[in-house]
Parts: sequence; structure tokens; C-alpha cells
Amino acid sequence: MSIESLFVFGAGQMGAGIAQVAAASDISVTLYDKFDLQLDKAKKSIEFSLAKHLEKGQIDKAKLDKTLSLVTFTASLPSAIKADLVIEAAVEDMEIKKEIFKTLSELVTPATILATNTSSLSITKIASVTKNPEQVIGMHFMNPVPLMALVEIIRGIQTSDSTFQAVADCTKKLGKTVVEAKKDFPGFIVNRILVPMINEAFFVLMEGIASPEDIDEAMKLGTNQPMGPLKLADLVGLDTCLFICEIFHKELGEDKYRPCPLLRKYVEAGWLGRKTKKGVYTY
Ligand SMILES: NC(=O)c1ccc[n+]([C@@H]2O[C@H](COP(=O)([O-])OP(=O)(O)OC[C@H]3O[C@@H](n4cnc5c(N)ncnc54)[C@H](O)[C@@H]3O)[C@@H](O)[C@H]2O)c1
Repeated sequence: MSIESLFVFGAGQMGAGIAQVAAASDISVTLYDKFDLQLDKAKKSIEFSLAKHLEKGQIDKAKLDKTLSLVTFTASLPSAIKADLVIEAAVEDMEIKKEIFKTLSELVTPATILATNTSSLSITKIASVTKNPEQVIGMHFMNPVPLMALVEIIRGIQTSDSTFQAVADCTKKLGKTVVEAKKDFPGFIVNRILVPMINEAFFVLMEGIASPEDIDEAMKLGTNQPMGPLKLADLVGLDTCLFICEIFHKELGEDKYRPCPLLRKYVEAGWLGRKTKKGVYTY
């Protein structure tokens, strides 16, 4: 099955990025969010990102206009979704995702593939509430989507080979590199390794071992990462980091995954990172 049309559920930072990359690959996209404000923000962020590509000479004006014309923004969930692929990029919460997939399963065509951009949740559990669990898969984009080359594809226990193949082919069409997580374990490959590092950076900060700037500088220059873990946490969203830590702690059942109390405090304060203009740093 070749994927020619896409429906993106959730127009936050990831949903907007996914919509942009798909439209830039000539796939027509409907971007849905229940909040008009989020759709406005998504439209602005796509326009801003494309303008940067234009400025750098990576695209011309005709390509910019065509990409924008391929994205439809909507705050009303259609009564029927005809897209070949739906990618959900809503909040990292199992109950909310199950509710969304149950609804989507009723609205799509029998052939539609349902993908989730979850960072850590069980694909198998999300698939279990749908009519066709063999057509449900994890499609984990990295942030920021237009710049990051990788997509992790995760098979739930029920995912069929043809679903995997169609999604892998589509991902390559988007210009991304595919890695396969063969097993549906929390955090898959990237976040299973990355998020405990971010959590540990919060412990180092909480214990007063170093300033945020020095923690980030140490990891940037000492381990050759493009940015330090606290800056990265601000980019990912501290709420998302905390959700993932909580899932690891609960599902993997080991103390080493205990979320850092300082991370929890920042989230309680509404300091979620770049998206709220305040996290570990102020923007
Ligand atoms: N932020 C990252 O770096 C990153 C990276 C990879 C994957 N992810 C995953 O992508 C998903 C989205 O993350 P994000 O950072 O874009 O979050 P975000 O908070 O920026 O956006 C979430 C969007 O979903 C919308 N939404 C939530 N519930 C909804 C509902 N029931 N109906 C309609 N819209 C709803 C919100 O209005 C919001 O616009 C999460 O599952 C996250 O774990 C995030």
C-alpha cells in the first residue's frame, strides 16, 4: 500500500513538524487539533520553518507555496477520515491515547493505518482498543521533525508485516532514516537510553553538583552531543520527560527509573520548557 494522504491528530510541536515534512514530500495532510490556538501556532511554526529553508536557499518560493497549500488545518474532527495513514501526536497519556484511537478506529476506512508518535507508551495496548490492531504501529519522529533524520518504527505484538512495510516505505519517502524496534518495550530504543540521562541531569542539578550551564557544557563538550541534557529537556518539554520517566518507573519496575523530584517540581510550576518560555532556562 502506498501512502498518498495523511491525517495528523494533534497540532503541537510534533504534529506541526510531521505535517510540514509530509507536505514537503507531496503528501496531502489534514492537521487536526481541538484548540484553534494550537492550529494557529502550528501554522505559524510551519510558515516560519519554511521561510528559513527559503532564506537558506534550500527551497524556492514555488515549493514553499506548494507545501503550505498541501496542509489543511481543522479544529473539527470529520465524521469520516479517508486518509491512508493517520498519525496521532497528542499528549503522552495512555488513557487519552486509548480514547483517541477508539474514536479514530470508528472514523477511518478499513484500509487506513493508525500510527502513534508516542515516545514511550505500549503500542500493543493502544492497538487493543481498535477494530484492526494489525494496522496499528508506532512511528516515533524526533524533535524538531523537519531537521531530524530518524524515525523509529515500533511493532506492537499485533502489527502485520504489510503495515510495517507501508509505514517504512512512507517514512523513507519523507526523507527519513528508519530504525526498527522489534519489541514493544517502554521507550523503545532512543528514549530508553536518552530519558534516564535527562533525568540524571536533573538529579545532578538538584544535588547542587553543578549549574545548569555547566551540566550542559560538560555533556556537550565531554560526550560530543549537539546540546546538553537540560537544554534538550526544555526542547522536548519537561512534562513529556516526566510522563516518560513515570512510565519507565511503573512499567519496568526498577528504582533506577524514579523521576527526579526537581523535574516534578518544575512541571508542577508549569515550567515546561521552550513551549511555555520557561523551563530549566528562560526563553
Ligand atoms: N516533544 C518531543 O520532543 C517529542 C518527540 C517525539 C515524540 N513525542 C510525542 O509526541 C506526542 C506529542 O508531543 P508534543 O511535544 O507535540 O506535545 P504538545 O503538547 O506540543 O502537543 C500536543 C497537542 O495535542 C493536542 N491534543 C491533546 N489531546 C487532544 C485531544 N484529545 N484531541 C485533540 N487534540 C488534542 C493539544 O491541543 C496539543 O496541540 C506525545 O505523545 C509525545 O510523547 C514528543
